[in-house]
Amino acid sequence: MLQPTSCPRLPSAFASDIRNFAMETNIESYLIEKRVFKPAKEFAKKARIKSLAQYQKIYRESIRRPETFWAREAKELTWQKPWKKVLDWKAPFAKWFIGGQLNLSENCLDRHLNGWRRNKAAIIWEGEPGEKRTLTYQQLHREVCHFANVLKRNRIRKGDRVIIYLPTIPEAAIAMLACARIGAVHSVVFGGFSADSIRDRIADSGAIALITADGSYRRGAVVPLKNNVDHALSGGTTVKRVIVFKRAGNEIHMEEGRDVWWHRELEYVDANCEPIAVASEHPLYILYTSGSTGKPKGILHTTGGYLLGIYSTMKYVFDVRDEDLFWCTADVGWVTGHSYVVYGPLTLGATTLMYEGAPNWPEPDRFWKIVEDYRVTILYTAPTAIRAFIRWGDDWVKKHDLSSLRLLGSVGEPINPEAWMWYHKTIGGGRCPIVDTWWQTETGAIMITPLPGAIPTKPGSATLAFFGVDAAVVNERGEEVGANVGGKLIIRKPWPSMLRTIYGDQERYQKQYWSEFKGRYLTGDGARRDRDGYFWIVGRIDDVLNVAGHRLGTSEIESALVAHTQVEEAAVVGRPDEMKGQAVVAFVTLKGSASPSTRLKAELRDHVGIHIGAIAKPDEVRFAEALPKTRSGKIMRRLLKEIASGQNVTGDTTTLEDFSVLAKLSEEE
Ligand code: WT7
Repeated sequence: MLQPTSCPRLPSAFASDIRNFAMETNIESYLIEKRVFKPAKEFAKKARIKSLAQYQKIYRESIRRPETFWAREAKELTWQKPWKKVLDWKAPFAKWFIGGQLNLSENCLDRHLNGWRRNKAAIIWEGEPGEKRTLTYQQLHREVCHFANVLKRNRIRKGDRVIIYLPTIPEAAIAMLACARIGAVHSVVFGGFSADSIRDRIADSGAIALITADGSYRRGAVVPLKNNVDHALSGGTTVKRVIVFKRAGNEIHMEEGRDVWWHRELEYVDANCEPIAVASEHPLYILYTSGSTGKPKGILHTTGGYLLGIYSTMKYVFDVRDEDLFWCTADVGWVTGHSYVVYGPLTLGATTLMYEGAPNWPEPDRFWKIVEDYRVTILYTAPTAIRAFIRWGDDWVKKHDLSSLRLLGSVGEPINPEAWMWYHKTIGGGRCPIVDTWWQTETGAIMITPLPGAIPTKPGSATLAFFGVDAAVVNERGEEVGANVGGKLIIRKPWPSMLRTIYGDQERYQKQYWSEFKGRYLTGDGARRDRDGYFWIVGRIDDVLNVAGHRLGTSEIESALVAHTQVEEAAVVGRPDEMKGQAVVAFVTLKGSASPSTRLKAELRDHVGIHIGAIAKPDEVRFAEALPKTRSGKIMRRLLKEIASGQNVTGDTTTLEDFSVLAKLSEEE
């Protein structure tokens, strides 16, 4: 079972092993990563948390008395009305800072206007074609207030849901902050999602308005955002108003009485808009993510607790300073974009860099050119990007001066030790600590992570839990397992930035996250802890794939496939992929009248692209005469996974209904 460290597929290999072997299998032999990197003295001296001992002390206190810890942190935020009670926990329902009232946009903007930060850059943006824009806190404040009045003018009120379908441009942040300013609930839909995905999210959230752009840029081409919106809205919708920002200048259709231009609307309103005080538990946003059933889940985050989670992590994990330039490369459409492109940095009064486009446009050195041009100091990106850079070659990196960097971050999937080492040496010049941050859309903020001046890092490990986060690895019976034993990662206590529910589906919320171990949050990830208590995240152990750092539900892709007229049945599994972490493999049986062809394969891939978005397109479509099923008719995905990754089927097949199916599947291709 020993995996050499040079194996680029380490995390995924772990994942399948964890699933295939009993949860209590001793996987001690995996402990091959012996390299330890201590925080440099210089770095530690300046950091907020300066030593392991200091971290441990605060951590212990934060777990013993979470409410005291969080209340102390929360005092650093701006409240319009103080809270009466820190936490009300009736598992699995948490309320934080009861009685407290605040406004998130006030925390991100207004409170930085009193002193010198007023004229500090809040957002530095670069468009894919190369345009540059800088917005100071004062300017951003004005834009947000102005646009908040546009929302009001368009009858958007507190509590209304608003879909934001924009590229990573300042207007995405402006729209989010403007919603927060008036208490409207935003739901950002990733610009790579298709019309069908937008339609589903509108229907589920009951959104009354949508904010989009005519188009955005991706690898030099224009993505027709407004066009996608038109398709999504055809055939009945709750959306009454569409506000369109002019970005790419592509030709679009404006529906009379429904669609209005962003820039025109600004002319009708002034730029004075007080931030309204909302209750701490007032919904802030809904963000859809994949689960193990076909329907994406609307993860609901509320105001006070979420703000506190991103504030504290931004402060301690990135240890961000006024002179920093913080660049999180995520798209605003993902939770990372919400928490660490927009809300986190702005809450701290930091400068956030936003980049609209692809990392390899026009050449594979775009990121390094940006780091050099702006003197980025903190870079937060994903393992899938790091692996792509490795493949494109060091020459692209060496063309640029990256000496401004002082801290690196990783998020989205387990980072394999070799990619970690490359990031450390080639990007960080051996001098920058790496924070490998584990968290989820549901957790709102970083949960397991090194603190850069305090916690020694080991390549491939997210190290230790953040303050107030009571993470544990347990077996099937919910008992904590010993060192180097694999199990399920759970969180044993509520934390401020946790999701409050799945929008409109309290039951699913309870069942999905809190039922397996009562009163404990089930992450869906497998993990182990080593002898130092370090967490080694293995990856998803449910029917969720992690493709290039993005979550895709296997059953979501399956439902898209069976919606095709020629498909009888489909099963989707992940296969380890050097670049993307996991690749999507679809096994498809066709209806009697249909016959397999290369053309049909391409058609099915496009079909998934149309129904979900390009990121969900199967990397491989395999036609099968039948799928392996148990006697009770359940598809045996484990066997398909083994076949997809070119392994021999080894596990237990005794429950298989028809053995000939397996032989035929393995013959295919
Ligand atoms: C899943 C959550 C949280 C922002 C991006 C993804 C995986 C995330 C790590 C990490 C190992 C990680 C987990 C998790 N994941 N970060 N540092 N090490 N795995 O958010 O789409 O909600 O996905 O991403 O499997 O459950 P998401």
